[in-house]
Amino acid sequence: MSSINVDVSLKESLKDADTLRDLAEIEEMDFSRIFDRPPRPLNMDRQRSCDERSLSELSAGVPIPSPRPSSRIENNFRLFDHLNCSSSPGRRSGFNTPISQTGVETHPTMAEAWEALRRSLVYFRGQPVGTIAALDNSEEQVNYDQVFVRDFVPSALAFLMNGEPEIVKNFILKTLRLQSWEKKIDRFQLGEGVMPASFKVLHDPVRNNETLMADFGESAIGRVAPVDSGFWWIFLLRAYTKSTGDTSLAEKPECQKGMRLILSLCLSEGFDTFPTLLCADGCCMVDRRMGVYGYPIEIQALFFMALRCALLLLKQDEEGNEFVQRITKRLHALSFHMRSYYWIDLKHLNDIYRYKTEEYSHTAVNKFNVIPDSLPEWIFDFMPVRGGYFIGNVSPARMDFRWFCLGNCIAILSSLATPEQSTAIMDLIESRWEELVGEMPLKVIYPAIESHEWQIVTGCDPKNTRWSYHNGGSWPVLLWLLTAACIKTGRPQIARRAIELAETRLIKDNWPEYYDGKLGRFVGKQARKCQTWSVAGYLVAKMMLEDPSHLGTVALEEDKQTKPLIRRSNSWTF
Ligand code: GLC
Repeated sequence: MSSINVDVSLKESLKDADTLRDLAEIEEMDFSRIFDRPPRPLNMDRQRSCDERSLSELSAGVPIPSPRPSSRIENNFRLFDHLNCSSSPGRRSGFNTPISQTGVETHPTMAEAWEALRRSLVYFRGQPVGTIAALDNSEEQVNYDQVFVRDFVPSALAFLMNGEPEIVKNFILKTLRLQSWEKKIDRFQLGEGVMPASFKVLHDPVRNNETLMADFGESAIGRVAPVDSGFWWIFLLRAYTKSTGDTSLAEKPECQKGMRLILSLCLSEGFDTFPTLLCADGCCMVDRRMGVYGYPIEIQALFFMALRCALLLLKQDEEGNEFVQRITKRLHALSFHMRSYYWIDLKHLNDIYRYKTEEYSHTAVNKFNVIPDSLPEWIFDFMPVRGGYFIGNVSPARMDFRWFCLGNCIAILSSLATPEQSTAIMDLIESRWEELVGEMPLKVIYPAIESHEWQIVTGCDPKNTRWSYHNGGSWPVLLWLLTAACIKTGRPQIARRAIELAETRLIKDNWPEYYDGKLGRFVGKQARKCQTWSVAGYLVAKMMLEDPSHLGTVALEEDKQTKPLIRRSNSWTF
């Protein structure tokens, strides 16, 4: 590298450092205003302090107290000790007798849910390492007898919020070991950083031995790539660190390396013209062909979340610093792109409706050459006067206007959505309650595709017929994401309403994986029963409503620098 290059990159990093200092200031915002009742002061101090430190110390010019280059994370979280926050007020020794932290009697569904979650525990050589996807063994199980990385997230959060972090730590370390496996599909070797979709414990009764077997997509139906697994892993590492105050796990050289390997995969340079991540179909929760190929919102929001979590967790050594700079640049570009091109509301919809096409050059308004005739009929009725959301996908001549619940909730939690956009998403959920919640929370995607479109888009998938499974089915697991988003936006009453609906049926129906129908009235055609993430999603939602300070475990405050420059009415254009 020439000296000029060094100067340029130094300046860049100083500029980035300013951004990060701003991030730190934002962490000082009064978080409590977003809750409808005052949070416990101890918890809130703990949460604010933790990110304050980590972010401010990332910025150049802010002295790092410890001379050891490896001490950043430890320093980030040291305030935990002073505030005695490593012992959460929610810590309890057992799951069978859930006690409300507010002294209010808990709903009977809670006790059943804790029991079901306990039954789903998977042990490896005597230690709990995860939860099985579903305990339902009424039919051939396919791979529901495995521990899925994405499915374990709500379980992990339930255990963290209950003061039981060990299983989460075990899971993080075990999956890290799996990452280091040589991964092959036929003759093709997968990237080093790829995290498994799922794993299973194999018992050998003859040798009285246990081994792990992982699936990186080589056994999965359709050979789909679990792009989301690595992002969820980083998210969990940060959730664990935040909730326990134990920085030693994230500081482990193997955790730092695991993180860098995941980041190398998604930050690598290629032919892209967009900062979003290009993916094949079935790369996330929607793990079948459903037209999510390209730049799906779920992955982009998780990507953004994982990058921000990694910023907090990376050590300030030579290798860590290089990633911090790459992440910071990518975050700027990514938030600009998402907020500008994925955001839709009534005003923006009207703009697209009137788009000119075939525009060449920098002055083009319709940058992706989206043809107004491709606007689906349903969107004109669906779009409320107040409200908006991030659409499903954007690429040349393609805007997938479908609503994806997980991506929009993660956009709120990671602050990819500005506060105004977050409010607008909640407005949309409220005004389109029947469509998005109906009788059972929550639609994974809205609306369903049918007839010829279903044939073309899903390849005639009989599991994904209209208003079933991924194609407009209702998934109770999404309750935890909705609840967290509601608390972050100061609208807990929305979550309460949704949870009450779920409580009328979940036990009766034995915790189905998903519900079918426009209103979600029917237990899903092929839904598993005793689906662990339906159980855990409900538990996490309840615990967060009861003690909103848990929000800090799953949410990040806004970064001022990534705010849009110009705001026009309630539309976001640059
Ligand atoms: C289904 C879901 C997927 C989930 C898996 C295990 O394949 O689509 O998101 O991880 O089941 O529950």
